[in-house]
Amino acid sequence: MLPQIPRPAVLMPVGAAGSGKSTFARAFPPSWILSADSLRGQIADDPGDQAASQDAWTALHLLLGYRLRRARSAVVDATNTGVADRRALLDIADQHGVPAVAVTMPATREQCHRRNRIRPAARRVPASVLDRQFDLAAVSHQALLDEGFSAVHCAADLPVLRHVLQRAAASGREHGAPDVRAAFGDDLAAFLTWEPDSGPGDWYGALAIGGESLAIRQVEREYDFGFEAGVRCWQPLCPAPAWTPVRDAADLLAAYDGLPTDDITCDACDT
Ligand SMILES: Nc1ncnc2c1ncn2[C@@H]1O[C@H](COP(=O)(O)OP(=O)(O)O)[C@@H](O)[C@H]1O
Ligand SMILES: [Mg+2]
Repeated sequence: MLPQIPRPAVLMPVGAAGSGKSTFARAFPPSWILSADSLRGQIADDPGDQAASQDAWTALHLLLGYRLRRARSAVVDATNTGVADRRALLDIADQHGVPAVAVTMPATREQCHRRNRIRPAARRVPASVLDRQFDLAAVSHQALLDEGFSAVHCAADLPVLRHVLQRAAASGREHGAPDVRAAFGDDLAAFLTWEPDSGPGDWYGALAIGGESLAIRQVEREYDFGFEAGVRCWQPLCPAPAWTPVRDAADLLAAYDGLPTDDITCDACDT
């Protein structure tokens, strides 16, 4: 994928909080990413719970070994600023004969502080901690090579943005499908499926989980390009599909509860 990176490899971004490590990691397939924060979150429901660190690292080392045993690449999304932390990862890479590649982050100290300050409180690190991380991350490429890394790159020199653009262009995402994310958020969008033969123009689908579903449509009309949710007709006993406009998740909930916040249009009664 990136000519500069051997396959398999263990990639280790080295940088302070806010230096862009997790963003860099997301340029690679999700299955590659071993994140100390995510594992702390999975173990203790809080990515910042330092009391869960030791368990998270034990899990990370195990997962890394399992991937490398299968000649699968990994990106270790952690600060990787401590020599001993890097040593442990380098040893696992060595045991499996997989090259380790260090990636230094080009962000300045001020950029890291600025990004750290605007983070949600739970994900912010104290300024003094960030300063120490930044000092430690300023390790020279030669020192990293001496530790046993087979290559050291600065993230700025790797064409990761191009790679991500290429991946998106090749992903074959259906063109013209209505943007449910913008209206209803990522959480709900994950449960929405459009019917295979709907669109372009009129889109029919449903939010569906298990045996429950809420019909959703977006019908092209001159006056409205919004979404509608399936509800019961305003005429008691009418079995025809009826629809009500929905603008956000609260409207969807109201439609689901049979208490729509807007007019109901019935496919049979209102034509
Ligand atoms: N190259 C970049 N240029 C501008 N902003 C960036 C860049 N990389 C990351 N960011 C932004 O900086 C913030 C911190 O990035 P993140 O990847 O979470 O850092 P880290 O994982 O090192 O703490 C995020 O809001 C992200 O969008
Ligand atoms: Mg991060």
